[in-house]
Amino acid sequence: MKVDGRHFRSIWVEPDGWSIGAIDQRRLPHEFVVAKMTDCDAAADAIRSMLVRGAPLIGATAAYGVALAMRSDASDAALDKAYATLIGARPTAINLKWALEVMRETLLPLPPSARSDAAYARAGEIAEQDIAINKGIAEHGLALIEAIRARKKEGERVNVLTHCNAGWLATVDWGTATAPIYLAHDRGSSVHVWVDETRPRNQGASLTAWELAHHGVAHTVIPDNTGGHLMQHGMVDLVIVGTDRVTANGDVCNKIGTYLRALAAHDNAVPFYVALPSPTIDFSIDDGIRQIPIEQRSADEVATMTGRTADGRIETIRVVSDGSPVANYGFDVTPSRLVSGLITERGVLQPDRDALARAFPERARVLRALK
Ligand code: MRU
Repeated sequence: MKVDGRHFRSIWVEPDGWSIGAIDQRRLPHEFVVAKMTDCDAAADAIRSMLVRGAPLIGATAAYGVALAMRSDASDAALDKAYATLIGARPTAINLKWALEVMRETLLPLPPSARSDAAYARAGEIAEQDIAINKGIAEHGLALIEAIRARKKEGERVNVLTHCNAGWLATVDWGTATAPIYLAHDRGSSVHVWVDETRPRNQGASLTAWELAHHGVAHTVIPDNTGGHLMQHGMVDLVIVGTDRVTANGDVCNKIGTYLRALAAHDNAVPFYVALPSPTIDFSIDDGIRQIPIEQRSADEVATMTGRTADGRIETIRVVSDGSPVANYGFDVTPSRLVSGLITERGVLQPDRDALARAFPERARVLRALK
């Protein structure tokens, strides 16, 4: 996607051919800063500190983290160490484990002398694959948007509500939830996006709104508790969100607050869709509420807010009274019964075991064999 007319991906190999560049998402929307990672620890830190975030990008960063590790030491022990360092960086997005497993399967059979080159090549493929998948999601999701448009009056725009950032910043390019929106916009079809601010880290207000503005897509940022009201008044045609992990039976784990949007959508008969690339499916579990580890992050993320002052300084201020305890659960689980459909690269699927296993038999089979 473009930033001030220049094409960017969220992560890339620098012109030196080995170090890894990424957009520092902690600094947006006020500052556009590029960070450089030169070893595996830096990649793990980038994931942990949310310099990079979003399930598919976490996976791609982990793959490049393994490549950085192999560059300095390509022994079996170093591969194990890189895996252990990266897997602990964030617990909820399954794409992290998926990418590390892909890297390990690729590298272990090779002699150490071949591992560094192979690791960069495989990480590059993971990044390219992410983009190709997201283009598939874009096409399938676009059909849903256009079906809604067909029922509207001439010239009326389609209103999509989204939560958190499942945009191009959360992937390598295009995004998942935003991919159909960008495609609709690029093809001249008028869409408007209600962007949940997404407290406590404000990924909607800081990242999704920034992306949409740079791409020229009409949007409005709303406080997190507004969606239900909009739905009651017919102002939301469909919800599209991303996800960090989908279980074999179609339960969806995503940024905290997603479940409440699904409940409001259900109550108002608004279609609630989840866009996901297949590496986000965890075929090894089938009970999202009990089996998905929910990340708990620092109380500071809730107790403080960071923003730009009128004179241009970036400041962090406290918004919770001193001494009040704070809870910061990063994700929640939306049961499959509340999901209208899963927008994948292989089509829009029913959120159930049969549909997922039929669409992705190769993944379902491998994981069943591992169990
Ligand atoms: O905590 P974050 O910002 O990494 O959470 C991101 C989300 O919840 C996204 O919706 C999800 O990763 C899907 S990204 C395509």
